[in-house]
Parts: sequence; structure tokens; C-alpha cells
Amino acid sequence: MIIETNQACDLVIFGAKGDLSKRKLLPALYKLEKSNRMHKNTRIIGAGRADWNIPEYIKIAKTAIENFLNEKIDSVIWKKFSSRLNFCNIDVYEKLHFIRLQKILDQKKNTIIYYCAMPPHTLNSIFIGLKNANLNPQSSRIILEKPLGSCLKTSKIINNQISQYFSESQIFRIDHYLGKEAILNLLALRFANSFFFHCWNNNVIDHIQITVSEEVGIEGRWSYFDTTGQMKDMVQNHLLQILAIITMEQPKNLTAKNVQNEKLKILRSLKTINEKNISTHTVRGQYSEGYIKGKNVPSYLKEEGANQNSQTETFVAIKVNIENKKWFGVPFYLRTGKRLRYKYSEIVVVFKKIPVNLFKNSNLREFQNKLIIRLEPNENIKIDFLNKMPGLNSEYKLENSQFESNYFSKKNSKNLIDAYERLLLESMRGKQSLFVSREEIEESWKWIDPIINAWKKTKNSNIQLYQSGTWGPENSNLLLFNDNRVWYEFN
Ligand code: BG6
Repeated sequence: MIIETNQACDLVIFGAKGDLSKRKLLPALYKLEKSNRMHKNTRIIGAGRADWNIPEYIKIAKTAIENFLNEKIDSVIWKKFSSRLNFCNIDVYEKLHFIRLQKILDQKKNTIIYYCAMPPHTLNSIFIGLKNANLNPQSSRIILEKPLGSCLKTSKIINNQISQYFSESQIFRIDHYLGKEAILNLLALRFANSFFFHCWNNNVIDHIQITVSEEVGIEGRWSYFDTTGQMKDMVQNHLLQILAIITMEQPKNLTAKNVQNEKLKILRSLKTINEKNISTHTVRGQYSEGYIKGKNVPSYLKEEGANQNSQTETFVAIKVNIENKKWFGVPFYLRTGKRLRYKYSEIVVVFKKIPVNLFKNSNLREFQNKLIIRLEPNENIKIDFLNKMPGLNSEYKLENSQFESNYFSKKNSKNLIDAYERLLLESMRGKQSLFVSREEIEESWKWIDPIINAWKKTKNSNIQLYQSGTWGPENSNLLLFNDNRVWYEFN
């Protein structure tokens, strides 16, 4: 019997009606129940403008879990889980509504955790409402979703606002990619293996590609997505976090502060992209109609609620340089988009060519070893290498082979945990090491803002259309082709 949180919590979900709560948070909490990780007195309180009573909320939660969790609900576990659910009808702009929450919360016995699954412009009303109702004791915690703000300025405003009512040790800024098993494994791969540890620099590595491709479109989130775009939705947070983790120096230890500080140093070293180099360093696209897994899907402009003049990007490819000694001269190619051919995330580390070719009849001059880290799906690690073709030939003939790690084998795959499950548990434990610091977020915006501004100003801001179900616009290939490189093919 595992009960991992020794402290009972009252978890309040602001935005209970929203997509995130239904798609991710409730299923993750149900799974925590199933694995017996939650304290017996922990409660989950949905909060929002809906006029639901508790039985109605329980019913809605059940439907959401059934829809978004790929498994049948167990009646015994459901009974236990549903008894934790409560609902508070609250409009965050109405000061007096917070009294309703005050009446539900058990401040004496439980640690209160607020999960703000709400748009950035509503956050200050939540902070103030909680403060006015004395619901922000030092023991309480608050989780903020990404994107935090929409540029450096608005992000700073939110951070300054929250700092008036909550201290840094109470604030958990979430980037759910940091809760993914394969991302956590990057630390082990890099810092527990001498082989990788010693060759992780510009003497040995030619370049690194990071792809986070999605099959989904915007899933009924037009109003959110169209004012955000793929750059702010995915690059500002998830891709920059992956980049920072694979390039940072070894932290002194694994505490939140030390890991965050090493990532911060990388974010501070990113070479600025602005009007001068925007056209050689970025590509953006928007999906048109096409086919995904044989199914016809509409263009971005035909999605529900679409504005026909939208120039919002659903695809981005960027060439990034890190201006420090370790990575000088190594380009990092990042790409991410919606409605691409498959959903997968992968990091490909491409090693430098061998300078002199000993094997005259081989393709060695073209060959580069690759370390392929599949983050999702089917998490895996592979190494591409050459070996001698067996046989009695008098000449050496070489052939391509792959080493494949069995780390994420069937044995381990049953231990794969959803990112939200892990991060919710970490917040209940009060541990911040898998969360992002204020400085990291502000530094990311500092780098993103000039790109977005340059897109607005330059002629290159015209979006290239790409057919749904492909790998994005043709210019994404040119970005690498101009450097004599190609995107590694998904297989
Ligand atoms: C979210 C974005 O942060 O990440 C979504 O807002 C995106 O637009 C999602 O689809 C992708 O997450 P995952 O875990 O499915 O790769």
C-alpha cells in the first residue's frame, strides 16, 4: 500500500469547466487515486462559473475521465475518488464569491493548493480574491499554467502581481513537458553516462535537431490559439525547456534552484534573432486542408470560429545558436507544428564526420553517427553507426546498423506516468524541482519577443501554407538545406 503524500491537501481547480481540467487534470488525479498516491483526506474542489452542484460535477468529471483516459473506470476506485470531489460556483471577478470557497476549504487540516487553469488576464483577480478572503496563508501553494503572459512585459506584470500575495516558495510554474518520463531521463542519459558526458560539446557534435510534431489541430481552442500561435504555445516553453536541458552544464545537485540556474544560463546565451536575421533563422507556416491517417481535415482558416484573415502560425522551424564556449558553432534546429503527419517528439544529436576516409569504397564521407532520443511515443534511444559487412570480400564494405536501448521496454512501459500525474503529485509533496522559475520564463520571453516583433515588421512575415499531414512548409527543409543538412526522417 503506497501513500506518498503525508499531507492532506485541498486542491482547488480554477477553470474546472475548461479543456485542461477535463482532458488532463481529472484523469491524472484519478490515476493518482488508482495508484494510491493521495492522502485519504485530500479533496478536489472544482471552481468556476458553472452553476453545478456536487452530483453534477461528479457526473461531468466521470464523463471527462471516461473520454480522456484510455481505460475503463474501476467502480471501487471511482467510489473513493468521487467522494473527494466538491464544486464551488465562483466568478473570479466577484470578490464576495471567494467567501464561498472559504466555507468549503479546510484550512486547519489541509494544505491548500490552487491550480490556475485559466487565461493569463484572469489571474490577478484570482490572486486578489484569495488575498481578500484570507485564503493565501504561507502554507498554501499556487500552480500557474503556461503561457505565463504573452510577452516579457505581461509576464513580468503577472509575476509582480502574484509576488504581492504569494512568496516564490509557494509558486509552482508548470511546464508539463518537465513531468514527462523521457525528459527526466535526459538528465540520466547526459550526467550518468561517461560516454555521453565526455562527448557533449562542439568538438564532437555537429548539430542537434529537436522535433515536436502534433497530429491535432487546435481542438476547438480557436480564441486561445489564434492570439497565441505555435511560437508562444510550444516554443516559448516546451521546446526551449528541452533545449536548455540537453545543453546545460551539470548542475551541482538536483535541487530546483541548481537545475533552474543551469537552464537559465543557457536561455541567457541564446543568440538574438531579430529583423536582421529573421529570414535566415525562422520559418513559419499555417496548415491547409489535407489528410491525417487517411482522414480529411480542414484548413486552419476553416476551423470553428476562424477569422479568415488570420496570420497566426501553426508551424515554426528555427535555427538557434547558443553563444557560449561549449556550443559555439553548433546549430540547433527546432521545429514544431500542428496537423503534421504523426505525433512524435524526438531529439537527434548528429556527430561530426570523420576527417579522413580509410574505407575507400564506402559512403563514410557522407555518414554521421546519430544519437536519436525518442521522447514520444514509444520512448526509446538509438544510435546510428557503421560496421563491416560480414563476408569474404577482400575490401571493407560498410553497412548502417542501429543500437537500440531496451530502457522503455514492455517492463518499463507500464511504469510510464502521465506528466500531469507526476507534476500534481510533486505539488502535493511541495517539491519544486520539476517546475520552472520566474527568471527562466522571463528570459524565454526576452528571446521570443524580438522574433515575434520581427515577424510583424518584415515582409517575411507572410505565412507559408502547408498541407495537413505533411512535415510542414517547404521552407523548413530549406532552413537546413542552406547549411548542407537535412531533417532526420522519422521512422
Ligand atoms: C500544450 C499546448 O501545452 O501542449 C497544446 O497548449 C499542445 O497546444 C500540447 O497540443 C502538447 O502536449 P503533449 O503532451 O500532447 O505533447
